Amino acid sequence: MGTSVAINKPFEVLQSATLPQPQNSIVAVLGLGYVGLPLMVGFADDQRTIGFDVDESKIAALRDGEDSTDMTTLEDLTKENMDFTCDVNALHDADVMMVCVPTPVMHGNKPDYRPVLAASRTIGQNMKRGCVVVYESTVDPGTTENKCVPILEEESGMREGVDFYVGYSPERVSPGDHARRVGDIAKIVAGSTPQVTDYLAELYSRVVKAGLFKAASIKVAEAAKILENTQRDVNIALINEMMQLFDAMGIKVTDVVAAAGSKWNFHKYFPGLVGGHCISVDPFFLLNAGRGHGLAMDIVASARQVNERTSHYISDKLHEMLDPESHNLQGKRVLVLGRAFKDNCPDIRNSKSFALMDSLWTRGADVFSYDPIADDGHFEGGRGAKVITSLEEGPYDAVVVTAKHDCFVEDIDLFKLASVVGRGSPVVDLRGLFDEEMAKLQFNYWTP
Ligand SMILES: NC(=O)c1ccc[n+]([C@@H]2O[C@H](COP(=O)([O-])OP(=O)(O)OC[C@H]3O[C@@H](n4cnc5c(N)ncnc54)[C@H](O)[C@@H]3O)[C@@H](O)[C@H]2O)c1
Repeated sequence: MGTSVAINKPFEVLQSATLPQPQNSIVAVLGLGYVGLPLMVGFADDQRTIGFDVDESKIAALRDGEDSTDMTTLEDLTKENMDFTCDVNALHDADVMMVCVPTPVMHGNKPDYRPVLAASRTIGQNMKRGCVVVYESTVDPGTTENKCVPILEEESGMREGVDFYVGYSPERVSPGDHARRVGDIAKIVAGSTPQVTDYLAELYSRVVKAGLFKAASIKVAEAAKILENTQRDVNIALINEMMQLFDAMGIKVTDVVAAAGSKWNFHKYFPGLVGGHCISVDPFFLLNAGRGHGLAMDIVASARQVNERTSHYISDKLHEMLDPESHNLQGKRVLVLGRAFKDNCPDIRNSKSFALMDSLWTRGADVFSYDPIADDGHFEGGRGAKVITSLEEGPYDAVVVTAKHDCFVEDIDLFKLASVVGRGSPVVDLRGLFDEEMAKLQFNYWTP
């Protein structure tokens, strides 16, 4: 009998924790923003969910059924299975923890891993044995295994692959696009072992109806997401650059794209301001990773520069249309329609509309910013813009459209426009809000 104890003891110590059952898994989501909140809502239909965020005011608002991201409804937020909390103790019950915290850049466009590392610390201190930790935040390849797992192990005193498991499943939601929600977008999953990948595929398939793709490894899944966004940045940069050349030649780039798009292998992209905290940020993670491997990543770097400069090009364009003889725009009143970084999305963070407004302000213009859906938080107008809540403060000398929100489409037609800006005045319509032929009859209208 004594012998069997001696044999069993080390076996018990090394036995790997059993993976949870997908259908019974209690799901905790860390970071309840544009990504985390809809994900949590998706799971809450038939499993218990715990929503954890460090922002107390956000938790209070969510408990009151208020979502400033406009990604969910009151009905979504009052599902029975949902708890919103700032209390780390609530995480002890979770079978799976999904990390949806920001991955921004710091000064000098250096990747800021602090939120993702802090969330890993929180999880490490509060997870139970057998927990699966899955990262959804966009990161460069290797972050999950090389940066996050060591923290999870250190804080928990447990071992990945034995006591707990990790995975990566990039989020692909597109804020403002209400037609494609979490369940409608195919999802990539990867776990630290094939069994973890299978677990994640089964778990996510409860919410995602568009299909699951099992990536070859966690690094592949991380790389896939950052490649998707970088590819978009590079393609838009190409069209933004073409816009400048073709415009100088008197050619409309969107006409060119339409013509070129008649070939089966041409991919259509359109010019625009690339802001927000995905497409305009993620390539910097890749550039940083490239530097670590002695690679300059010239195409990625150039694309970033072109897209960063596009707001200045638009500012130049308006200056030329408004007052080409003058060195500045002193005393000119310019209305900018759109403060959010993209159509139908309240998010203003890193919106290039601000860069444009700043540039116009620097030239001496009085800039007025109108965007009824923008979630301004603490922003009350920057040095380059005065936020207005109605168009009544007109007339303006020129108008720039940077977003095609549904509310603009519904409320601002050419009659309305004519009531705030004089006949023949410059209207720069980056998003094609107005009918070009009709607009040209009344205004000095330019659209790419
Ligand atoms: N917004 C998008 O379009 C989108 C799409 C796909 C992927 N992503 C990626 O998903 C991630 C999240 O983006 P988002 O737009 O939802 O961000 P967000 O800023 O809208 O929300 C993040 C939330 O995380 C919370 N948070 C910060 N640190 C935390 C911590 N240590 N513990 C718990 N909560 C914490 C914040 O308070 C905030 O509520 C990022 O990596 C982003 O790149 C975003």
